[in-house]
Amino acid sequence: MKNKIIAGNWKMNKNRVEAEQLITELIPLVADSKNTVIICVPYTDLCKAVKLTKGTNIHVGAQNCHWKESGAYTGEIAPSMLTEIGVEYVVIGHSERRTYFGETDATVLLRTKAALAAGLKPIVCIGETLEERNSGNMENVLRRQVVEGFKDITEAELNNVIVAYEPVWAIGTGVTATDEQANDAIKFVRSVFAEKYGKKAASALYIQYGGSMNDANAKGLLAMSDIDGGLIGGASLVATKFSAIVNSHK
Ligand code: 13P
Repeated sequence: MKNKIIAGNWKMNKNRVEAEQLITELIPLVADSKNTVIICVPYTDLCKAVKLTKGTNIHVGAQNCHWKESGAYTGEIAPSMLTEIGVEYVVIGHSERRTYFGETDATVLLRTKAALAAGLKPIVCIGETLEERNSGNMENVLRRQVVEGFKDITEAELNNVIVAYEPVWAIGTGVTATDEQANDAIKFVRSVFAEKYGKKAASALYIQYGGSMNDANAKGLLAMSDIDGGLIGGASLVATKFSAIVNSHK
């Protein structure tokens, strides 16, 4: 049995003071967990998060990175700028980046490749909209996101990737996929990875569920055969809620 990887995506929330409060409260609450615990915080909280979590079982991630090492890319962050300060993970291709900031499968691939080259572990997000699901296109969309978004990713690189299946209709809506819906979609995603990388690599791959996951529904979701963890938005902003999710799977 794999352990689970539980990651909080704080999105654009928590200033430095709030971040310190949340992390300080969280550290003892998850200290006994065997699961991997990650917090993906805003850029301005990264240094503080790395410092505060040193020597604890909490790992720190960013929420995006660029594919170039430096240059005239206003507003972007290079992967090595993240590793230099002790960041280990990075969220890539979140649906909010795809929807609001023009992220495509091609840019997701570039960012993932660069993150891996710098030694970061990318958490690559995929997922269908409600319209795509209702029109029977869910599998096509997920297949395209995997095939295009992982085009140049080698099997060795895949070892260091986490995939997050986040149906767009479940993000921030309070509507969670049922345990079966989430598990079935993740099983399908895994089968697409298996076509390219083989069964062994696909079953070793960590695929999280994300979308309105909370302290009440986490246990059921995390007990499903193919769900290897969670990527949590809203509930990761409250230490007791996030720790309850982490601790819901022993
Ligand atoms: P919510 O948990 O707030 O639905 O957000 C999920 C998400 O987008 C995590 O990346």
